[in-house]
Amino acid sequence: MQTAAKVLSNDPNNDELKTFYDEAIMMGMLAHTNIVSLLGIITCGHPKAIVMELCDNGDLHHYLQELSSRMAQASENFLLAAGVGVARGMEYLQLKSIVHRDLAARNVLLDQTYSVKVCDFGLSRCVGAQNDGDNVHKGLYKMTHGANIPVRWTSPEALRDQEYTHKSDVWSYGIVLWEIWTNANTPYDSMTNEQVWLEVGTGYRLPKPQAAPAFVYDIMRKSWSANVSERPDFVKIITDLHLLETSKQLSEGNKLVISSALGAKIEEEKSGKVATLGLSAHHINNVVKKFMKVSKAMTTTDVLSRMKKILKNEGG
Ligand SMILES: Nc1ncnc2c1ncn2[C@@H]1O[C@H](COP(=O)(O)OP(=O)(O)O)[C@@H](O)[C@H]1O
Ligand SMILES: [Mg+2]
Repeated sequence: MQTAAKVLSNDPNNDELKTFYDEAIMMGMLAHTNIVSLLGIITCGHPKAIVMELCDNGDLHHYLQELSSRMAQASENFLLAAGVGVARGMEYLQLKSIVHRDLAARNVLLDQTYSVKVCDFGLSRCVGAQNDGDNVHKGLYKMTHGANIPVRWTSPEALRDQEYTHKSDVWSYGIVLWEIWTNANTPYDSMTNEQVWLEVGTGYRLPKPQAAPAFVYDIMRKSWSANVSERPDFVKIITDLHLLETSKQLSEGNKLVISSALGAKIEEEKSGKVATLGLSAHHINNVVKKFMKVSKAMTTTDVLSRMKKILKNEGG
């Protein structure tokens, strides 16, 4: 198995260390075809690193831009399946009570088979606990200190009140769909961040990408409902996608792509082993323990290849 590592700077401050461990712990809670898998963390010595499955085809934003710079166009099937895959990954996060807070095409990876994987849990928060500290209530994370906010991907209520929910992730999902169908154009390209804040707050919405089918733009517009209670959550989006499987308005080809992207049973079975490797806390502990013994005098490349060997043996 090939691996990728998210490496922490050599001299991290306390905040950076906390973010690093929070992200690794968050990833360790997750096992889904459409979420990047954690393989382990390197905590001993420097650099510390989060080791995860390698997604050979990089992130969706770069991939689409690269195609467009070569005057190439991704197939409609790929674009449809990518949108459905992101929705499935996000439904899984919702079921795990996790709000991502930075969903964007740059944080969606493509593996060897071009299957999509949501990544970058650096801003993610668990919102399941009722009374976990002062600011967490069920389904809601209230941000209390500054962070760089991706304004163009963030819902008006999250920008205004710093309140993040699954529904604010849905807003970002609508923007990701727009990126998918525009070859990863920058949303609201002609506006400054301040203009976006103002215009979107007073009702402006991104136009329909020329290539996007009407039913896809319909999902975008619902994702951008100003009234949060009118905005679907990811469970509803997936239910609606299932309804589309039998819709008379869709071509048989589109229905087939949506069905297989929603099912993805075979893929899930295939990646079962990856998920086991990546996500059993016991397993990760074992790997990290073994790893600590051997990693002291090694270069990062040695470290990663050693880790791969340990993982291979652990996986049987
Ligand atoms: N597992 C991976 N496989 C391949 N590329 C990756 C992987 N993880 C991250 N990347 C690349 O690195 C970029 C930054 O990673 P990300 O986790 O989003 O970190 P950051 O917090 O710096 O945004 C991604 O946009 C993607 O291009
Ligand atoms: Mg990122």
